[in-house]
Amino acid sequence: MNYRHAYHAGNFADVMKHALLLALIRHLQRKSTGFYVLDTHAGCGAYDLAGLEANKTQEWRDGIGRLLDDPPEALKDYLTIIRDLGAPGRYPGSPLIVASQLRAQDQLVCCELHPEDVRILRRLFRDNAQVSVHHRDAYAALRALLPPKEQKRGLVLIDPPFEQPDEFAHLAQAIVESRRRFTTGMVAAWYPIKHRTPVRAFHNQLRDSGLRALLACEFTLRPPLDPGQLNGCGLLIAAPPYGFEKQAEELLGAMRPALDRDGAAETHVSWLVEE
Ligand SMILES: C[S@@+](CC[C@H](N)C(=O)[O-])C[C@H]1O[C@@H](n2cnc3c(N)ncnc32)[C@H](O)[C@@H]1O
Repeated sequence: MNYRHAYHAGNFADVMKHALLLALIRHLQRKSTGFYVLDTHAGCGAYDLAGLEANKTQEWRDGIGRLLDDPPEALKDYLTIIRDLGAPGRYPGSPLIVASQLRAQDQLVCCELHPEDVRILRRLFRDNAQVSVHHRDAYAALRALLPPKEQKRGLVLIDPPFEQPDEFAHLAQAIVESRRRFTTGMVAAWYPIKHRTPVRAFHNQLRDSGLRALLACEFTLRPPLDPGQLNGCGLLIAAPPYGFEKQAEELLGAMRPALDRDGAAETHVSWLVEE
């Protein structure tokens, strides 16, 4: 396990993933009944942007660093939460963002495999009885932790590091497995866009799976032609809330001008399979 999210925290990919994640949480909060979030690849929960790793890559400067000073209206909710959780000195990871939004009836379950990250994550939530942290493999955990025992509504966030060559295929299987086990829940799965070919194969695998209501939300910095570069990323949302495609377009459209480095950034929101 070489991947450490501390090098990438707060970059453009985190911004798009976390702004959409927060919007999905807002939908879950519209009803008073409790919701359940499973964060399968949780990371360590919070990242020091002045730390060694973030300093080495400085990726956050082209992500959250471009949005804090002049927040676009559509991103104000996300940026307020990010500030409340420590920006600009610290950038919160997905578990901290979700934990900050839990009401008494809601629950967050996190899985993380890296021994150091899981130790940090456990420390972060040691006094929070609504959050549990598991040191276990994400894909095996899906089978054990879904469906939730108490809540009928919720979200599975799957955010793998893409270190393995077969990660796209595993991700597609995990989306299908999550939806089949937690039929009333949503799934949000992050994927890199380096080159179109693996993304096309991933989309096709999902189209062939029989699942319905699959929405692809994508943000590219440049045409995805160089497989050696993270040219963009996507969040595949299975069973999104009604009307979410418009909201996703608005959120991605609002971040595009600030994140666009070379005048080539694009956003796409499209149904792989409609409801
Ligand atoms: C992209 S990072 C997660 C970032 C986090 N979701 C966020 O948005 O703040 C991926 C994480 O998955 C962890 N990881 C890698 N393989 C795993 C596996 N098989 N099961 C669980 N966690 C894994 C890595 O250690 C890393 O912390």
